[in-house]
Amino acid sequence: MTAPTLAWTDALTLNQPTLDATHHEFVDLLNAFGAALDAGADALPAFRALLAHTEDHFAMEEDWMARCGFEPQNCHASQHAMVLNVMREALRYATELGDREPLSILRGELAAWFPAHAEMMDAALVFTMAQRGFDPATGACRAAPAAEAAAHACGGPGGCA
Ligand SMILES: [Fe+2]
Ligand SMILES: [Fe+2]
Repeated sequence: MTAPTLAWTDALTLNQPTLDATHHEFVDLLNAFGAALDAGADALPAFRALLAHTEDHFAMEEDWMARCGFEPQNCHASQHAMVLNVMREALRYATELGDREPLSILRGELAAWFPAHAEMMDAALVFTMAQRGFDPATGACRAAPAAEAAAHACGGPGGCA
């Protein structure tokens, strides 16, 4: 059995149950994609599953940002958009141009990118949600969105730190 593409570590746990469950699924899907590549199997179905899950994962976080008072254009959301762009491009190369090299490069890129993103940007989002008493299950926010910028939390002007 080959090593997983990305092993879960405690550093990835952000103590937000919905997000932690989603991140576990992301890691599992990334590992399934990596295993398909290692097995020399068709990795496209696993990659499509990873992409679809990532679209939902990012949309969920961006919905929380919006309901918590973040500006729509903030650097966390921009990073999501950039990652989805690269993933969609890699899929297009594989399906339209018959070039699967970008897919295999992306496997390592995603494994390197995800821990940094989760431990910085997603952790900052969870921190901000806790500060504002925002409950994603109900959508209730204890505090009104702050007017000041939340640059340190990467929320952009109007962010909710
Ligand atoms: Fe995330
Ligand atoms: Fe994120």
